[in-house]
Amino acid sequence: MDPADLDPTRMPRHVACVMDGNGRWAKKRGLPRTAGHRAGEEALFEAAKEAVDLGIEWLTVYAFSTENWRRPDDEVRFLINVIADDLLTRRRDQLHALGVRIRFAGRRDWRVPKWVLRRMDEAAELTEHNKATTVTVAFNYGGRAEIVDAVRALVAEGVKAGKVDERALRKRLYLPDMPDPDLFIRTSGEYRISNFLLWEIAYSELVFLDVLWPDFRGEHLRAAVREYQQRERRFGLTGEQRDGDALPG
Ligand code: IPE
Ligand code: IPE
Ligand code: MG
Repeated sequence: MDPADLDPTRMPRHVACVMDGNGRWAKKRGLPRTAGHRAGEEALFEAAKEAVDLGIEWLTVYAFSTENWRRPDDEVRFLINVIADDLLTRRRDQLHALGVRIRFAGRRDWRVPKWVLRRMDEAAELTEHNKATTVTVAFNYGGRAEIVDAVRALVAEGVKAGKVDERALRKRLYLPDMPDPDLFIRTSGEYRISNFLLWEIAYSELVFLDVLWPDFRGEHLRAAVREYQQRERRFGLTGEQRDGDALPG
């Protein structure tokens, strides 16, 4: 597939992705689920590279949910190691060389080992001035938890009920400077959100792909962007208003 068939004037600014299907990928090959997670890390690097090549400013990936702690202990441990050792250590310098800014979204609670938090901070610091794509890794992330945390912040700051509006809440999300995703992708043929970016995807275009995450490559990102470019986004307006470019700012 040729990136030349994408319309450069209609690129999504922010792509969010639920990287799903690692376990099934491994099972199909008679391998342990952990092998799928390792292969998934490779796919994430490929996706980040493609996002840089396509000039996508923001790529947010769901790496570990607040619900994933309920998986067997050894799988949880393996997943954390893949993220902290492979992605944040071995891969970090490659991503840095590509100009990727690495950030994290999620709860920094007691369940996340201290050494992992340290690796996250190091990766974020090393890459904070990079100007290519911002890759946000959602780790120990839950969309409901994020909204709850924002409400807690409002209450803790003593914000009066009458002053609570969408702007006030948005300002207290994990990454308030991050634009909402234009395109939301989920792989592995599952049609659900699984608690990812609930607030932020209010008007995202949803694209579901059958590919299992470890098989995801640049061509799949381009295919999702191509589908996105065929959609008509209305933001509550009529199609006619849209044609008149009366889109909300
Ligand atoms: C996605 O793959 C990775 C994480 C959820 C961390 P899965 O491990 O969910 O793979 P499937 O859905 O079982 O195939
Ligand atoms: C969502 O996938 C979480 C991540 C990809 C990190 P899951 O595999 O955990 O979602 P469900 O359980 O199938 O909804
Ligand atoms: Mg899954």
